[in-house]
Amino acid sequence: MIKSKHLLGIKELTSEEIYHILDTAAGFRDVLHRDIKKVPPLRGKTVVSLFFEPSTRTKTSFALAAKRLSADFVNFSVSTSSVLKGETIKDTALTIQALGADFVVIRHPSAGVPHFLSNILDMSVINAGDGANEHPTQALLDLFTIQTHKKNFQGLTVAIIGDIAHSRVAKSNIYALTKLGAKVRLICPPTLMPAEIGKLGVDVFHSIDDGIKKADVIMTLRLQLERQSKGFLPSLEEYFKLYGLTSERLKLAKSDALVMHPGPMNRGVEIESAVADGPQSVILEQVTNGLAVRMAVLYLLAGVRK
Ligand code: CP
Repeated sequence: MIKSKHLLGIKELTSEEIYHILDTAAGFRDVLHRDIKKVPPLRGKTVVSLFFEPSTRTKTSFALAAKRLSADFVNFSVSTSSVLKGETIKDTALTIQALGADFVVIRHPSAGVPHFLSNILDMSVINAGDGANEHPTQALLDLFTIQTHKKNFQGLTVAIIGDIAHSRVAKSNIYALTKLGAKVRLICPPTLMPAEIGKLGVDVFHSIDDGIKKADVIMTLRLQLERQSKGFLPSLEEYFKLYGLTSERLKLAKSDALVMHPGPMNRGVEIESAVADGPQSVILEQVTNGLAVRMAVLYLLAGVRK
């Protein structure tokens, strides 16, 4: 059972709710392998995407997930909307609701905007990334991908490398993986590591070689250059030299370690192309799994709304 009609973050979910979403996604993955990939549960419902930041994967997979569930999907284009005439986020969201939407999928550069909207809207709010806070559906599809290969989270060692300070993907994965019993190692330069992060039950490393040793899963993160003021890094070349995931470094992890990246990737900055495209990479599988996971989220939240 999912208790809330909103998906605001992994922080708000119990481990039972997480497993319920993953189990539901497994059912939808089977649907996506059928000749006819469309099922009726959201017929008559409307899903609107409201993205104030760019997206390829999240927006497209929510659109496809809504259509596969027979919902109507409307992509609200912020750049051609009355937002440019000064309309507030509150008035924009209330307008979308007044037009009959049942779900709004929102991405915003400020942390907390989905939470704010959930307090004033009757429609379901789904967080598709709020600043450096959370990106819950990314973490859910990451869990789903890990579960496909490793079965159990208990005792798994997951190394997350990169811009922890600015990464909503890292935050959501830390909440999710620790709730499910995985050991989480965070690897990044001291300038990109939040001071209090150890309180979340993770181990902190500043050496990639130490951090990825015998890991079962390695998640590389995009450097969030748009969220950084100058001075966190000497240069991108230096970052790759110290923290880039190369074929040589990958040998330090377990031989069957999964290589993950939420995308979009900066090849040659966070990850070497040979690794991103190599046999241990599940990066495109993550994208594919995003569709089943987002179908599960829409389907389960629709059930709570009834
Ligand atoms: N991982 C992710 O959120 O990708 P997009 O920015 O392309 O949606």
